[in-house]
Amino acid sequence: MSKDLLTLPHPDERTVMEGYSQNPLDFFKNCAREFGEIVPVQLEDDLICLLTNPEHITEVLKNRVLFVKGKDLQILHRFLGNGLITSEGDFWQRQRRLTQPVFHQQRIEDYGAVMVEYTARILQTWREDEVRDVYNDMMRLTFNIVMKTLFDQDMTDNEANQILYSVEEAMNWYETQSVTNYADQGELTPADIRYQSAMEQLDQAMYAMIQQRREQGEMKRDLLSMLMQVQDADDGSKMSDLQLRDEAASLITAGHETTSNTLSWTWMLLAQHPQVREKLTQELKTVLDGRLPTLEDLPSLVYTTMIIKESMRLYPAVTDLSREATQDCEIGGYFIPKGCTLIMSQWVMHRDPRYFEDPEVFIPERWENDIEKQIPRGVYFPFGDGPRFCIGKSFAMMEAVLILATIAQKWKLELAPDCKIELQPSITLRPKHGIKVILKQV
Ligand code: HEM
Repeated sequence: MSKDLLTLPHPDERTVMEGYSQNPLDFFKNCAREFGEIVPVQLEDDLICLLTNPEHITEVLKNRVLFVKGKDLQILHRFLGNGLITSEGDFWQRQRRLTQPVFHQQRIEDYGAVMVEYTARILQTWREDEVRDVYNDMMRLTFNIVMKTLFDQDMTDNEANQILYSVEEAMNWYETQSVTNYADQGELTPADIRYQSAMEQLDQAMYAMIQQRREQGEMKRDLLSMLMQVQDADDGSKMSDLQLRDEAASLITAGHETTSNTLSWTWMLLAQHPQVREKLTQELKTVLDGRLPTLEDLPSLVYTTMIIKESMRLYPAVTDLSREATQDCEIGGYFIPKGCTLIMSQWVMHRDPRYFEDPEVFIPERWENDIEKQIPRGVYFPFGDGPRFCIGKSFAMMEAVLILATIAQKWKLELAPDCKIELQPSITLRPKHGIKVILKQV
């Protein structure tokens, strides 16, 4: 007989109201440290439950039928439609199978040269002592890389601005929608209106891209052509323009925001830790000796890779995953009612002193000796886990390491004296005021 969740220690209503709204990241971290491995939290009308036992986390993420994506995703649905991130069931499985080949190791290896070339291109405009918002630069760069590699689009600055603005507006709007307030609320606010107009712009850009490809008649080796050609095994139908739009918008959003945030936090950490930065410079000198990196260099860029892993530990681009129970079930001996939202937080687990020594400190060396394989599954999961784990994981790791190596061997980024760092946890963990840096040649 399973036990009642609410017999477990949990925060009172006032602590939830104040803590969650002020700082959801620290609120969950404090809950975990204070109340244990399963923490029920009554958030307005919803019962949510924070899990911090790695076995429970793995159990939930593995079972995509019993645990579907959480309610917060329903808000995203309006923006990303029925694409890979938001869809469920057989439909999701089919779309995942169709999209997978574009992310096969062999295929993504072709993308390495584009990643380095596009990075080298933006560096041509950088000048000594210039002050830049490197978050903005990383956003634009990773966006252009996704558009080129997956959609064979060379974006003009205007086109890029238009889509990036739409995505930004959608993210801002998402933040104003509370998890418990996802139903339509009647009257439109100015933020709703801005969001709708941004969505119209995004749709226009996506449909124009699809239309152009149809008119060209020529099919390419990229994701867009592949999705256009695929036929349903049962009825022979092809994807509609709406479906193509949803998949494209999902991959563009998931494929640039996450990597650009990871790189932005990495630049901040490097500026704050000169001894790490020095070690990175040494590795780049030894491995690259002034030339641009290639795919073949990746196995030798050991410290560079450890920096990215450590940066994703402290500042995971996705700070938590949520799943909703589709049936009554049990976790760790406790009764989980149908509809209960389970939270698995990278932010909490990645900073857990049970698994990481000095968990709040940036120490890339902790990833030496394959430590990743020694910590239990369910502790470090920047790319998620189970069947819904990130389809772009290898793409993103390769991209982050190549971009970091290309830039860091030429430029040192120091934080500008007026650089204001504030976390903005939204769909992804963003620096609220960007990351303002001063460029210095290495
Ligand atoms: C540092 C970079 C990245 C991080 C930290 C990251 C993280 C994640 C996480 C945590 C999930 C799982 C979400 C869940 O289970 O609810 C996910 C899913 C996904 N990611 Fe990534 N991601 C990154 C880069 C990318 C890139 C480069 C792409 C594509 C080009 C991408 C495409 C996707 C897609 C399509 C999904 C949904 C997969 C599915 O449900 O089948 N991601 N990502």
